[in-house]
Amino acid sequence: MSQDDSCCRFCSRGFYSCNWKHSREKKGRYPRCWLSVVALVSVLTLFWMYICLITYNDREDINWKGFTVLKRWVNWFMVLIIISAVLTSYCILLLLFALFQIALREPLNLHWLHKIFLVLGVILVICGVTGISLAWRKEWPTVLLSLQATAPFLQIGGVGALTLLSWLVFQSFHGAHAAGSKILIAVVFVVVSAAIFLCPLLIQSPCLIEQSKLPPKPKLIGHRGAPMLAPENTMMSFRRSVECNVTAFETDVQLSKDRVPFLMHDNKSGFLLRTTNVKDEFPGQDFSHSTNLTWEDLKRLNAGDWFIKTDPFSTVSQLTAHEKEEARNQSIPSLVELLNLAKQHNISVLFDLKSDNQDNDTVDTVNAIIKSGIAPSLVLWLPPAERDYVKETAPGFIQVYDNTRDMKKEGGKHLNVNYGNLSAAEIRELRRNNVSVNLWVVNERWLFSLLWCSGTSSVTTNSCHLLQDMNHPDWVLGPHIYKMIWIAVDVASLLIMTGLFIFQWKTCWFSYKKGTKKQRNRQRHGKEHISLTS
Ligand SMILES: *[C@@H]1O[C@H](CO)[C@@H](O)[C@H](O)[C@H]1NC(C)=O
Ligand SMILES: *[C@@H]1O[C@H](CO)[C@@H](O)[C@H](O)[C@H]1NC(C)=O
Ligand SMILES: *[C@@H]1O[C@H](CO)[C@@H](O)[C@H](O)[C@H]1NC(C)=O
Ligand SMILES: *[C@@H]1O[C@H](CO)[C@@H](O)[C@H](O)[C@H]1NC(C)=O
Repeated sequence: MSQDDSCCRFCSRGFYSCNWKHSREKKGRYPRCWLSVVALVSVLTLFWMYICLITYNDREDINWKGFTVLKRWVNWFMVLIIISAVLTSYCILLLLFALFQIALREPLNLHWLHKIFLVLGVILVICGVTGISLAWRKEWPTVLLSLQATAPFLQIGGVGALTLLSWLVFQSFHGAHAAGSKILIAVVFVVVSAAIFLCPLLIQSPCLIEQSKLPPKPKLIGHRGAPMLAPENTMMSFRRSVECNVTAFETDVQLSKDRVPFLMHDNKSGFLLRTTNVKDEFPGQDFSHSTNLTWEDLKRLNAGDWFIKTDPFSTVSQLTAHEKEEARNQSIPSLVELLNLAKQHNISVLFDLKSDNQDNDTVDTVNAIIKSGIAPSLVLWLPPAERDYVKETAPGFIQVYDNTRDMKKEGGKHLNVNYGNLSAAEIRELRRNNVSVNLWVVNERWLFSLLWCSGTSSVTTNSCHLLQDMNHPDWVLGPHIYKMIWIAVDVASLLIMTGLFIFQWKTCWFSYKKGTKKQRNRQRHGKEHISLTS
């Protein structure tokens, strides 16, 4: 009978202890402590992986920050995701093998290499969390917000995990000899279970509403066009966003030396480096200001080749050969070219003025817009610097504010803010007052779903091609139905755990008595096996 050395046992021992032979006699130091460390690091890395997946919506921020420092485009966020995913899978596997070891009653001798990787994992998570707290603080509200989308499912998963783990807990409970240990185990287990069972009482989500109360789907605004399908801020990008039925183009305006407004996001030092071939056209020159070049010079630059080369969203492979050719051929557009496209398709235009000297730019930009002949109601005016002048010169423009305070002060009805700045309750309140609320930058389905449930009017997005196909939020549940679901899950789990507890209690004595005999038997079998193979 070679059940002793079944494949499972062999793999589990080999992976956990890196020792393929029997090692029952050789005891590692503090095996239980290391088991706790494995469990703790697994939970930590899972938590970290969750943060990575949630912040994926804003991955551009990280890559952009990397670019401003290194002046080279690298998809840093993808590197981070891959490292985190590998580490998380590794820790979870280690934990599973540890649980196997326990179930098979094998010793828990964690190999030193695993210990080093665990420490590396902890260091990664600490660095990551510190990094976010220092340099990317606006992501914490996003992580909290995401719980509104995930908490109901995390709770059900938590109940499942608790039910499975209760087997081990009951085992240690019955196995403990001291009354103190028994009480400690019982108290901790009851408190943790109660927290997991009852946390739905605290879960709030805008998507816990009756189907009939679901607000209409938010409109889409193309963030620099459709930047996943074409190089950002090029005519190709805006044309592709028209195909996604966007209601507005979002873009960035700067003025050239000869006062022509053109579209370019990056500004200040090296503002042409990321998205144009300025290095080839003007070798050795370091432009730091939009007014360094005339419109004639700017028009000469290629603004699409970088997209094919750096593949910023890993989407280039989805383009046809013709589309790639078209993307390679893009140049910097002027604002007037975009206004003409907007006019043709009855699409609004929303933009930032990127220069430090907005006052001068405002006058020239407003003049260019009026001269283009676009309907004033299609212009969503966002730059705050010279708003009074704009209101006077072009009263038909729609005034959009980047914070609630200014909007209320000036009696505005249009708001454009980051999605993390408003709670679901605030969005609902604004919508009740007929304020149109646009939130940026919303790329992922879960986030779009949440904001849809909250009643947001529109979102600025990189992925209009994905969001336009959504006919419904990812999930919407009536509050009563959700209550029934979680209570049913809790009750089922309680019943199973009670069953497990009674079962183990009944068999405890029996297996305890037999256990010692079995152990001896098993050891003898093992030795026989070794002597046979050697
Ligand atoms: C670009 O413009 C800035 C501000 O006007 C000026 O200080 C700088 O010298 C210019 N650089 C070049 C290369 O023309
Ligand atoms: C590339 O652009 C030029 C001018 O913008 C245009 O004449 C030409 O047809 C374009 N080629 C392709 C393949 O789009
Ligand atoms: C343009 O779109 C607006 C709504 O966005 C609509 O009210 C208006 O009638 C449209 N105009 C034309 C000419 O289609
Ligand atoms: C919002 O608009 C609706 C219809 O346009 C109107 O009936 C309602 O009174 C308005 N609410 C507020 C607070 O202005």
